[in-house]
Amino acid sequence: MDLGELAMSRSNFDFESSRSTGFAIALPAALACAVAWCLALAPPPAAAAKQSDPPLTLLAFNDLGMHCMNHNFGNLCILPPYNNLHAQLILRGESPQLIEENAVINYSFPGNTVSNTKTNFWNYTMQLFGVNLPPNVGLTGNGMTGRLIRESNIDWVATGIPITPLRDDGTLQPYDLATVTASYNGMTAMTRTVVPVSWEISCNLCHGLKNTKIKGQVLPLSGEEDKVELDILRKHDKMHKTNLMTQRPVLCAKCHADPALGTNGVPGVSNMSSAMHMSHATRVNKLTLANKCYACHPGVKTLCQRDIHIQRGVACTNCHGSMQAVGDPNRKPWVDEPKCGDCHHVSGHEYEEPGKLFKNSRGHGGILCATCHNSPHAITPTTNPEDNVQAMMHQGHAGVIDKCTVCHTRTPNDPFPHRRDD
Ligand code: HEC
Ligand code: HEC
Ligand code: HEC
Ligand code: HEC
Ligand code: HEC
Ligand code: HEC
Ligand code: HEC
Repeated sequence: MDLGELAMSRSNFDFESSRSTGFAIALPAALACAVAWCLALAPPPAAAAKQSDPPLTLLAFNDLGMHCMNHNFGNLCILPPYNNLHAQLILRGESPQLIEENAVINYSFPGNTVSNTKTNFWNYTMQLFGVNLPPNVGLTGNGMTGRLIRESNIDWVATGIPITPLRDDGTLQPYDLATVTASYNGMTAMTRTVVPVSWEISCNLCHGLKNTKIKGQVLPLSGEEDKVELDILRKHDKMHKTNLMTQRPVLCAKCHADPALGTNGVPGVSNMSSAMHMSHATRVNKLTLANKCYACHPGVKTLCQRDIHIQRGVACTNCHGSMQAVGDPNRKPWVDEPKCGDCHHVSGHEYEEPGKLFKNSRGHGGILCATCHNSPHAITPTTNPEDNVQAMMHQGHAGVIDKCTVCHTRTPNDPFPHRRDD
């Protein structure tokens, strides 16, 4: 199949007509099991009963539906370990109130407590980022446990958490759950939310490996990783007359501007996203993967798009367009992204705030969009059980937070305003 055929441009994708062609289906059986699984994870009945009348509600989310990181940093670095965990703390009432100060909000990952034994990132932070970091401390000073601080007047955040997808018991889990706890004025609240991270960046599908058996493998190949990375650097040196082989470890974003890392790059050199997507746009056609984006984005094992949309047949290119569209040098990577409002038009609804990304936008009563819906690629209800845990804990069913009494002490008589200022 050709990418061109796969790519249905955003503007061609008519949400209203898709609705009439029967996208609306019942949740698949897989999700029903997922929900049952979550029940097992939810607090015991006593705690669940208590959950309906605590004075405080805590809801949290990771700003990206997936964060990619390299596993090996000895040769090159596209992205470091770096997850951003957000939370909103709500004092329940007839008119709920967002708590803006004097709260203590902490996070931890039971079962995933260290990172320095799982990646060699800490051996190279000086060469790559010019800082010496203590083991298990990320680029903004946060560790595997820590505290969320108030960034703006409504939002609590811990940036740069250096989590890896490898749990302490050796199992791979790209969807590990953070435990987040809050205390305020003698009251407490708790929630659990996914902090997604994956190193399933499958450059090895095409780079470096002669043995076709391992070539098809998509998990990180320790020991084989060097071969893949050295092949990439050698090809870059040959094709663009650079000396990356002698400058290892190489931070790609040093020359290719990358808003994800806040680098401006070298003037005249293409930005990182454009360089990667444009140059590989036709190369990926030779792969037999149904979803070509999974050649580099995680991936056929991780399945980072696990949200309500994949269940309704809406995939990467329906929202983002083709590789060429993503690689358009006139696009601002990480800024010019799809918007819910491109496809959804329900009267009385408001979507992203003008000029703001989904992850930074607020809706109903100042609640962030992602607090109720989770992040893009993980818009609830999801096909993996972990992303449904938070909604299950707070309202007893998966999906968007739609139970008024999660925040209001009484179900309001007025209809639910999806707008910001109603
Ligand atoms: C579908 C196969 C495929 C995948 C997957 C792939 N590459 Fe490539 N890549 C190629 C081919 C083919 C070339 C060109 C080699 C040549 O002409 O000698 C190339 C070249 C490159 C180059 C040289 C610069 C240039 O002009 O393109 C870099 C850098 C590169 N790839 C990085 C990566 C990275 C990083 C990944 C994973 C995130 C990756 N590639 C995944 C096929 C692939
Ligand atoms: C020392 C500066 C430098 C570093 C570091 C660097 N590049 Fe490049 N790269 C260039 C230059 C210069 C070009 C050619 C001009 C351009 O594409 O704008 C280029 C081109 C490319 C291209 C081809 C773009 C196209 O449109 O054909 C890819 C892909 C690429 N680089 C990927 C990478 C990756 C991946 C890394 C990290 C492993 C990396 N680069 C690190 C300077 C650099
Ligand atoms: C050959 C590897 C490769 C393939 C295939 C690929 N990507 Fe990417 N993509 C990358 C890399 C590397 C980055 C990280 C760039 C950075 O750090 O800024 C990225 C970042 C992105 C971003 C965030 C930056 C931006 O431009 O806004 C989006 C969106 C994206 N990819 C979409 C897609 C979609 C959609 C597809 C499939 C149509 C796809 N990618 C296929 C390598 C790839
Ligand atoms: C239903 C629409 C939709 C689909 C399907 C979708 N995305 Fe996205 N994607 C978005 C939106 C919206 C954003 C911007 C997030 C924001 O504004 O905070 C985004 C952002 C991204 C980013 C930047 C990092 C981030 O999370 O903000 C990458 C990378 C990306 N998408 C890749 C993909 C890939 C790869 C696929 C398929 C596996 C995919 N997307 C499927 C809507 C979609
Ligand atoms: C490319 C178009 C497109 C974009 C962009 C998009 N969606 Fe959707 N969305 C759809 C389609 C199509 C459906 C399925 C509608 C149906 O089944 O009736 C859907 C379904 C949904 C549903 C389930 C609604 C229901 O009836 O159960 C939710 C919730 C949702 N989207 C939220 C979002 C959010 C939040 C964003 C932005 C982050 C977004 N969508 C971006 C096309 C899109
Ligand atoms: C307090 C929780 C809450 C917040 C905050 C919230 N939503 Fe929703 N959203 C809902 C509920 C509940 C529904 C489904 C019921 C409805 O359609 O009124 C929904 C439905 C949607 C849909 C699907 C509409 C359709 O076509 O069926 C989209 C898209 C959406 N919201 C986007 C957003 C965006 C963007 C923001 C932030 C500006 C946001 N939401 C903030 C609760 C919320
Ligand atoms: C995630 C928390 C949350 C959920 C869930 C939620 N609300 Fe709200 N709601 C708020 C906040 C915060 C305000 C702003 C209160 C203020 O104005 O100070 C608000 C305000 C309102 C208002 C405006 C009047 C007022 O009380 O200030 C109405 C009406 C309302 N909500 C109805 C609903 C309905 C109906 C539902 C369920 C379908 C719902 N809300 C679910 C948090 C929530």
